[in-house]
Amino acid sequence: MREIVHEMYSEEQVEERIDQLAEEINRDYQGKSLHLIGLLKGSVFFCCELSKRLTMPVTMDFMSVSSYGDSTVSSGRLNIKKDLDESIEGLDCIIVEDIIDSGNTLARTQQLLQGRQPSSLKICTLLDKPERRETPVEVDYVGFTSPDEFVVGYGLDYAQKYRNLPYIATLEFLEE
Ligand code: IMP
Ligand code: MG
Repeated sequence: MREIVHEMYSEEQVEERIDQLAEEINRDYQGKSLHLIGLLKGSVFFCCELSKRLTMPVTMDFMSVSSYGDSTVSSGRLNIKKDLDESIEGLDCIIVEDIIDSGNTLARTQQLLQGRQPSSLKICTLLDKPERRETPVEVDYVGFTSPDEFVVGYGLDYAQKYRNLPYIATLEFLEE
């Protein structure tokens, strides 16, 4: 199997969209401090670019999670590979994600973090694939609505590759 990379959103397009998201967040959190929670590893590039454009006092923490088991939030289980370093109690938080697919991981992560008594907890994702949703999640800030295709770049990987592409691309898989 061989992959071909097709650019979908150029670096300029991604950066322009991040400018717009940051403007929106700057308006919504005026006069407040903001705690960004980046989900490793995919959201790292997006999280950094977004944070550089924010004008309020910003703190950041990261966690690494994956989900397994069935798709319902109540019975689904979350595998925490790396937890947050700091408490989020009383903080205004935004979870920063690379892409929402089934929504299973994010819904469970949101439920877990909500239980830690943040002052508020919103979700910001670079990409969303709403057609693929199994567990509903309310997303507050969406960069791009993605078609149901496998995408890479700007942090997103295929078998740990392509995260470093400065643009967002779809992957075409070819039999050899
Ligand atoms: P889900 O929403 O629980 O299904 O899982 C979402 C996670 O799966 C994302 O955070 C990504 O790490 C990964 N993922 C889903 N779709 C893609 C894709 O098109 N490209 C790369 N990673 C993806
Ligand atoms: Mg992810």
